[in-house]
Amino acid sequence: MAAGDSFYIATPIFYVNDVPHIGHAYTEVAADVLARWHRQSGDDTWLLTGTDEHGQKILRTAVANDTTPQAWADKLVEEAWLPLLETIDIANDDFIRTTDERHESAVTIFLQKLYDDGFIYSGEYEGYYCVGCEEYKQLDDLLETEVGDYAGQLVCKIHTRPVEILKERNYFFRMSDFQQRLLDLYETRPDFIQPESVRNEIIQFVNSGLQDLSISRSSFDWGIKLPWDDSHVLYVWFDALLNYITAIGYGTDDDNFRRRWPANQLVGKDIARFHAVIWPAMLMAAGLEVPRRVFGHGWLLVGGEKMSKSKLTGIAPSQITDTFGVDAFRYYFMSAINFGQDGSFSWEDLAARYQAELANGFGNLASRVIAMVNKYFDGAVPSPAEYSEADLTVQRVVREAAESADAAMERFAIHTAIEGIWTIVDELNGYITLQEPWVLAKSEDTLERLGTVLYTAAEGLRALAVLLSPVIPAATHKLWSALGAASELGHLTDQVIVDAGHWGQLPPASRVHAIEALFPRIDAAEVVA
Ligand code: MSP
Repeated sequence: MAAGDSFYIATPIFYVNDVPHIGHAYTEVAADVLARWHRQSGDDTWLLTGTDEHGQKILRTAVANDTTPQAWADKLVEEAWLPLLETIDIANDDFIRTTDERHESAVTIFLQKLYDDGFIYSGEYEGYYCVGCEEYKQLDDLLETEVGDYAGQLVCKIHTRPVEILKERNYFFRMSDFQQRLLDLYETRPDFIQPESVRNEIIQFVNSGLQDLSISRSSFDWGIKLPWDDSHVLYVWFDALLNYITAIGYGTDDDNFRRRWPANQLVGKDIARFHAVIWPAMLMAAGLEVPRRVFGHGWLLVGGEKMSKSKLTGIAPSQITDTFGVDAFRYYFMSAINFGQDGSFSWEDLAARYQAELANGFGNLASRVIAMVNKYFDGAVPSPAEYSEADLTVQRVVREAAESADAAMERFAIHTAIEGIWTIVDELNGYITLQEPWVLAKSEDTLERLGTVLYTAAEGLRALAVLLSPVIPAATHKLWSALGAASELGHLTDQVIVDAGHWGQLPPASRVHAIEALFPRIDAAEVVA
């Protein structure tokens, strides 16, 4: 991408029937890391997230809790979903709720257009519906259980709860008209759906034939009323998908809409079909551009199953951040799991990586280098003298890591980007062991060499702070101040990421400050087993 280009990234909007767990936080962190990376690359970046508040699922939860759906949604947003963004340090630019007036009015404009242009008709729906998924189901999406509470009933494969049978007069969207156009889109833009596994599944699904989609319900009223028939409310997914354009000014602020759209859509693979089939078909019908890409990431598994509250495997993000801190949460999920594939969560793996990679690998490196600059040069970063082969190798590793990380982030391969950046941590640790600055410090004759070694290490830390700041913002911020870089080079987040690998930016004579451990040792007893 050229600096200044629009980079608009959106997470799915989350159901407010329950509080967030680490699966939701996973999507948020990934989107935030990508947004911070692009913001620091000088792109015109916008990160949108929000909540999905209409539909039967929320309505039923509210009724079960003796309240109204609006009051329930308000409470969950205030007490759970907005605080989540603080807990995991998300720098979102906007937060949309489907009950926002700005959303509802723009949805109405969109619907009326589709209706006027003949893409919507009235018909009879008869079939299955899963309220957990808020989705119309086909027989092959269902299982017939033989044992347990639901013996003899058809249950949804995802929720393992019985589906409902609907027979209603509804309005339909002519989705079948778009089958060929969608297949052409997948063909001509092979990176429209990523990763490959999700792309193949979607192509197979669309190839097997598309049916028109029922987009309204009349048996309850918690939703956006259809502008031409107020006895129907809009199907919750049709409503929710539109958030990506209503939030940036569709129908109300054309300039902003043109500036931002199209979006990069980050979703869990469970909802890739909605985003890669229904959503582009809706946009095509309205004469709008389809998203830039739809990336379906993998699931966090606990005990081999997709983690979910309804299956009681949900873990609250604060259970992790309270013990390990926010940065560790972000680093762990972004580096330990290949983005795009499923990944198993375990406390043991988290604790082991925290200790080995963050505390011993990175944190310790930072503390040691700063302590040596303090001890041997009274806290002023020394000037480098002539560079040796080993110093030049460090410079090359830094340059290559910065380049490879940028290329990986461009592909949303977040784990690969971090792996690339981590070669700097490993290189610097090995460099210090071999150069033995504590030995060089023993003689006046090697003082100049000591200066070069510590400059090399400090400048390597400067590059690390810049490259890791989208992933671990708090720790890199502390490191940046400790290096004296804040007063010399300005804010960490103003450092241009593509320049991070250019050697020699930390000015000699910068004043370093002692830092507390960036990743303090954690008592094993504190780790929830
Ligand atoms: N409201 C819909 C999305 C509408 S978007 C127009 C929805 N909401 S949800 O609350 O169920 O959240 C779904 C998203 O949360 C998933 O797509 C995924 O991004 C994330 N995850 C939920 N559980 C997850 C895991 N166990 N693992 C990884 N991500 C998970 O669907």
